[in-house]
Amino acid sequence: MTERADSYGDYWDLYVRSIFPQIRAERDPAAERLLWPGDEWGTPDIWSKIFEMVFVPELDPGLARAVEIGPGAGKYTAMVLERYPLATVLAADVSAAYLAVLADRLAPAVAAGRLALIRLEPDWDQFRRIAAERGWEGTVDLVFSIDAMVHVDLQFLVAYWMGAAAMLRPGGKMIMSVADATSPHGFDKLIADVPTYFAAQGKITSKFEWLCPPMVAHVLDRLGFDVRFVPKLAGRDCWFVATRRAVTPASATGPAR
Ligand SMILES: C[S@@+](CC[C@H](N)C(=O)[O-])C[C@H]1O[C@@H](n2cnc3c(N)ncnc32)[C@H](O)[C@@H]1O
Repeated sequence: MTERADSYGDYWDLYVRSIFPQIRAERDPAAERLLWPGDEWGTPDIWSKIFEMVFVPELDPGLARAVEIGPGAGKYTAMVLERYPLATVLAADVSAAYLAVLADRLAPAVAAGRLALIRLEPDWDQFRRIAAERGWEGTVDLVFSIDAMVHVDLQFLVAYWMGAAAMLRPGGKMIMSVADATSPHGFDKLIADVPTYFAAQGKITSKFEWLCPPMVAHVLDRLGFDVRFVPKLAGRDCWFVATRRAVTPASATGPAR
């Protein structure tokens, strides 16, 4: 792989266009199982168990407004649209290539106006604005991001968390997985990945950006969320459901605009 990425969006475009096709050619040449980029991480059975365990008990069947960060090819987007027939989803991603795959895979939902795709730019306040511009501020039922924010440093991730605080209604939920360096599997990966990434310091890669539950709980509490972790899913990642409290602290609105 000689190609280099200059931004996170470029990296994930490269993943979709070059890295995934290579993985598929090696592991599943007949493309029987690896249909979409992202199918190589886990199995449909695991994704659906996660959905039943983390999403379904938390969400009202009448869920109407959801916002996803890093949908990739949309395995969780599809489950939300199918399970919650009244839902409209705004799916925001840094990768134009991934958004093109998602538009293809879920074309009927896009055509029906139930799924809108948004390309995220390096603009800290854009995530909040994608809801505000639709009049969704303070009304969103669900913000979710699975297997995506493991790659996003806290300094960037916190912008999404502030955006979520602004767009969620009181009682609205943020469901997310992040990388946990303090779990046994997380620690093993931290160490195992040293040779892969050490020489790439300062470059854009798919390396993990490590967090731990106390950091997640502390920062989200300061932003106006009550956080509940999902111990059954604790492994390499920490999974949590953050419920927006009725009052959002001033610190959650970020620096002056
Ligand atoms: C490992 S894939 C996971 C995709 C999907 N959620 C799934 O479970 O299959 C990571 C996704 O996060 C997106 N992503 C990476 N960095 C991002 C960032 N800084 N902001 C938003 N999305 C990002 C990628 O473009 C990609 O769609």
